[in-house]
Amino acid sequence: MPVQTILPDIYSVGVTDWNVREFHGHTYTTKRGSTYNAYLIIDEKVTLVDTVLGSFSEELIGNIRQVLPPEKIDYIIANHVETDHSGSLPQIIKLAPQAKIIGTAKCKEGLQRHYYGNWEMQVVRTGDKLKLGKRTLEFIEAPMVHWPDSMFTYCPEEQLLLPNDAFGQHYATSERFDDEVDSCALMDEAQKYYANILWPLNDVILKKLQDVQKLNIPIKMIAPSHGVIWRKHPEKIIEAYLRWAKNETTPKVVVAYETMWGATAKMARAIADGLIDKGVEVKIFDIANSDRTEVIKEMLDAKGMIFGSSTHDNFMLPNIAAFMELIKGIKPKNRIMAVFGSFGWAGGAIKEIESLLIGAGAKDLVAGVGVKYAPDETELKCCHELGLTLADKVKSA
Ligand code: FEO
Repeated sequence: MPVQTILPDIYSVGVTDWNVREFHGHTYTTKRGSTYNAYLIIDEKVTLVDTVLGSFSEELIGNIRQVLPPEKIDYIIANHVETDHSGSLPQIIKLAPQAKIIGTAKCKEGLQRHYYGNWEMQVVRTGDKLKLGKRTLEFIEAPMVHWPDSMFTYCPEEQLLLPNDAFGQHYATSERFDDEVDSCALMDEAQKYYANILWPLNDVILKKLQDVQKLNIPIKMIAPSHGVIWRKHPEKIIEAYLRWAKNETTPKVVVAYETMWGATAKMARAIADGLIDKGVEVKIFDIANSDRTEVIKEMLDAKGMIFGSSTHDNFMLPNIAAFMELIKGIKPKNRIMAVFGSFGWAGGAIKEIESLLIGAGAKDLVAGVGVKYAPDETELKCCHELGLTLADKVKSA
């Protein structure tokens, strides 16, 4: 990623990972790649805000060198310990051993446990300020947005918020700003990011957003640690985060299933037909052939979620089982759910999925449909009726 001036004397010095296709282990597919953003502020004190994944250290250092020798860095703000942002710290510290690392108490602990560097650190708390010269940096602790160490950095003179992961997107582009990219693709990636990383933390995020609103700080630009910078419409992503964190949904239903010989797929289509007949938006995914990250994104604002599986060895099939593990972690609140599936001689998948959902806090579980071997006309009618019932429920919720 070429170095770009984002504000006078403030540079984007991060890197683009065009070809990364999986993130957080194998839990998140990144079909549009990603970026690891870092920002260099030139003032009386030279400050680097975050670093990048360790494998991109040389590129980061080269980018910094285009602005000034990295040896001149005075401060490194470590907003977050996760290695996609701290991975190049050892290399930067080698070049600028005098640089003071600044982060939260949890960040200090986390960096030590990752790098064992015994680095000198200045621990900051919400409200602490750091004078750089003409500019100041103010710190806002943001624990569990999305790690215990997470922190936002704010520059009041520029009305610039540097919130690390928050408001980010796994979206590799040659452009750097929200007004330069396709806005649908941008919001699609922002929603995917929220759904797959932040959704389980809705309550914490809402509280943090409200706390930041109470601070009454003007925000002209949001420069996150992934994806593009919000300079034209920072309010757009803040409003979206408020909507998502408040668990707002639309009358939409996601049907996610796995089928062995097609019977469960037939049932899925009959349920979907019932929903469509009542004018409800439906998305159907055969999980064995679908991108799980996309499915979770679609679920973020869906009032209804229906899960199906054929029974295999008394349990659900393996792809839907892996998907349900994600649902168990997310614990979607206030959704209407149902389970369906076919079985041979002993059913087990429906019961297994239902208990997983109840364990994940599901309250509104509608009685589902189970079918021996393949559904006949009457059983397909039952599936269709389940769709009609669910449609009424999501529309009236
Ligand atoms: Fe982008 Fe939590 O790391």
